[in-house]
Amino acid sequence: MTDEIVVIPGDGIGQEVVPAAVRVLEEVGEFEFVEAEAGDRVKEETGEALPRETYDLVASADATLFGAAGETAADVILPLRRAVHSFVNVRPAKAYPGVDALRSETDLVFLRENTEGVYAGHEDRLSDDLSTLTRVVTDSASRRLAKYACEFVSTDNHDGFTVAHKANVMRETDGRFREAVLSVADERGVDTDEVLMDAFATRVCLDPKQFDVVVCPNLAGDVLSDLAAGLVGGLGLLPSANVGPQRALFEPVHGTAPDIAGEGVANPSATLFSAAMLLEHLDHDETGANVRSAVESVLEDGPRTPDLGGDASTEDVTAAVVDRL
Ligand code: NAI
Ligand code: MG
Repeated sequence: MTDEIVVIPGDGIGQEVVPAAVRVLEEVGEFEFVEAEAGDRVKEETGEALPRETYDLVASADATLFGAAGETAADVILPLRRAVHSFVNVRPAKAYPGVDALRSETDLVFLRENTEGVYAGHEDRLSDDLSTLTRVVTDSASRRLAKYACEFVSTDNHDGFTVAHKANVMRETDGRFREAVLSVADERGVDTDEVLMDAFATRVCLDPKQFDVVVCPNLAGDVLSDLAAGLVGGLGLLPSANVGPQRALFEPVHGTAPDIAGEGVANPSATLFSAAMLLEHLDHDETGANVRSAVESVLEDGPRTPDLGGDASTEDVTAAVVDRL
């Protein structure tokens, strides 16, 4: 049966990098692509950033490839992550040969809790002076993430994982997170260590080799993986997967890049690596690996987009990747 892939370019450079990824996917397999809309543009036209039709398509597709949304990002991506019941956001951050990275030895995978924490949406304006936020941490979501992490380290050949948290201050919420994650790892015989998330930020810059797989709460994973993007050469390189029990949604970590949108020079690598993860999710492991190594080889030899110091267009890079395939 042909896999159905929902494709949502969204806004800004999403309109440039997602078509690049579709071109590469068409090169390596037979897929049924269903294009859907979301983001600022569709909101201007219809009043809704995430049309019901798009939500329903994502909720029933085998996999979704999403570009980025602008100001409506939270109205789009948070419900779409729920549509696939995503409980973990997988964010590899790796430095590649040929790319001028601040820390060329960086090779990390963030496994970020994807449903709760401070992104659970419980914010209130209580008075002219006071706003509050309620942070949500459940044992069940923390344990589910930890189980995924245990399986991930064993199938992907890692020695164990590090839990990043701030349980010394947020004793109740991060305390619960920490305890749940460590106890699942202990039950399963997986090696772990732990680090306070602020200390992690310094230590990973000074010596990223200390870390490998990092399990963290929602906001921490968002911020620390962007920090890692800085270590490896920029946001144009980082893919991500929002994984649920059956379905998954793949997206570059970056946003709409309004400063370069429309110029045709966005780096498609993050989205192409996301497409490689999508292929693996659909059990096309070998094809996924081929796409990844084609992108890596273009990163090494060029052509390169301006964010990586080159002068190539999105199209030049995509054509070079297709060529390698
Ligand atoms: P951004 O990721 O769009 O851009 C940050 C910087 O990185 C910019 O200088 C941009 O040019 C560069 N950059 C990002 N991706 C690139 C690529 N593929 N190739 C070359 N350079 C690249 O983040 P920013 O500027 O904070 O946000 C812009 C808009 O994107 C905002 O409206 C924000 O809400 C939205 N956003 C959406 C996300 C999503 O849909 N998942 C995630 C992050 C931001
Ligand atoms: Mg982010």
